[in-house]
Parts: sequence; structure tokens; C-alpha cells
Amino acid sequence: MQKLYAVLGDPIAHSMSPVMHNDLFGAYGIHAHYHPLLVKKETLQEAVTGLKAIGISGFNVTVPHKERIIPFLDYVDPLAAAIGAVNTVVNIEGKLQGYNTDGTGYVAGLQTVLSDFKDRRTLVIGAGGAARGIYFALAAAGVQQMDLCNRTAEKAELIKNECPYEVETNVYSKDMAEKVLSQYGLIIQTTPIGMSSAATDMPLSLQHLDSKTFVSDIIYNPLYSPFLLAAKNMGAEVQNGLPMFVYQGALAFELWTGIKPDTNRMKKLVLSHLGG
Ligand code: ATR
Repeated sequence: MQKLYAVLGDPIAHSMSPVMHNDLFGAYGIHAHYHPLLVKKETLQEAVTGLKAIGISGFNVTVPHKERIIPFLDYVDPLAAAIGAVNTVVNIEGKLQGYNTDGTGYVAGLQTVLSDFKDRRTLVIGAGGAARGIYFALAAAGVQQMDLCNRTAEKAELIKNECPYEVETNVYSKDMAEKVLSQYGLIIQTTPIGMSSAATDMPLSLQHLDSKTFVSDIIYNPLYSPFLLAAKNMGAEVQNGLPMFVYQGALAFELWTGIKPDTNRMKKLVLSHLGG
């Protein structure tokens, strides 16, 4: 019988996960289909109960369900539990197991281009769900010094205080981060600033950027946010959000099937859908 996979979210029509996973099922000869499912906040519990009842093999969870899903799962992986968010669920003999591949997906994408990332002093801009996943995954991977800069300082303090992995962190205001910018070997932009192609806003000034700093932005549509483009124009090596998206999907696929998929194939497919 054909296996069933899905992504639950609201909105969900824009998601590129169905095209990515269905292509992989075809490529690896797996008789399965991945559906986008529009699920409202209020009906998440019923949706999960229903999916469990019909024996879904696995699913992804996206905005606004990543935190809310946790009470409805039978097991939550320690990193996902620390982050407080799940994006991947595996059904093992009727028990739903939750994982977070967003942060580990970011780290996997970074590793392909920056082998010494653990030794770089790092700045994370933003303190939302994505920042939290990335910060925890980088701390778990062994990054020693990682500062946080966010409009709302309290949210950055929470991330720092709730992290179970050892890492030295200063919470900086935008002004302070701008002043010490040249000290960083890695800067990670996680806010939605620059997401709409018309946007020209910058989360902070890059005036003091050192061209040896590696700059990444988790935005991939547009492929170059104004922030990333400015960093590139200043001579920095940059990476957009495409690897994070591809690797979070690759890690989810591996959890479901045991197969490490071809990430170049995935990247090409997503790029072709973005018109890049
Ligand atoms: P996600 O969970 O996808 O990371 P989010 O929870 O909306 O998204 O978080 C976005 C982050 O970007 C937040 O840290 C937010 O700052 P606040 O904590 O102060 O809300 C930050 N952010 C969003 N829009 C911003 C803006 N215009 N200027 C500065 N920071 C912004």
C-alpha cells in the first residue's frame, strides 16, 4: 500500500516540501506520497488524532504548529524538547516521535562550506523560533562563543538562559552589535527582514563588517536578501537559506526512510521552482 506523508501548516499552499519529498520518493523508488494539509490552530489535535488513526508514516509541521504539536506526541527527541519546537514527526508502530531538523539542517548546510565554524565567534541576529533552533543546534555542535542581538532583548535572554548546552553568550543591542561587528567570524541573520523582494530594510548596519567574516541569512526567497547582498558586495563569503531548507528536508527524509538523499538534486529542484 502507498505510504502517506504530509506537511501541516496554515498557510501551506506556498510550501515547497511536497514537491521536494515527492521527487525523492520517485527517485528512490519508494511507494509513498507527501500531501500539503491546511490545518488551523484550533483543529491541530483532531488533525493529529486523525492522521494517527489512518496510519500516516510521518509528517512535517510548520507555522503555526511547531510548538503546539508537542503535547500530542508520544516521544520528543532531547534537542527538539530543549528547543521547544518540532518540525518532523515519525510514526513508529503507532507512536508519534518528534524531532527538530531546522537547527540541525542549518548546521549541516553550514558545514558544507565552513569546516571551522565551531572556532568562529558567532553573532545570531533575531530571537524567534528559527534563531532558537539554530542557536541550540550550533551550541550542541560545539560552538564556544555565540552572541545574540534582537529587537526585544528579553527574548534573546530567554534563549541564552534556556540553552542546555555550554556556550558563552552576550546579549547585545543593535548599536552594540554594530560596533563590535568586525570581531565575528560568522554572522547569522534569522529575522524576516528582507523577505519580500521589495524590501530594502537591513536588520543592522554592516559598516564595520570584516571581509573575512562568513555571513549567512536564512531567507532564500529572494535568493539574496538586501543584507546578504550588502555583505557579498563588501567581499564577505555568504550563504543564503536554501541549504538550511534543503538539509532540514534531507534530515526529515532520512528519519522517515533511512536514506540520505541527494541534496544537490533537492537544491536544483527547489531552485527551479523559485525560478533561479
Ligand atoms: P521565526 O519563528 O520564523 O523565527 P518569529 O518568531 O516571527 O519568526 O521571529 C522573528 C524574529 O525577527 C524575532 O526575533 C523578531 O524580533 P522580536 O523578538 O523583537 O519580535 C525579529 N523581527 C521581526 N521583524 C523585525 C523588525 N522589523 N525589526 C527587528 N526585528 C524583527
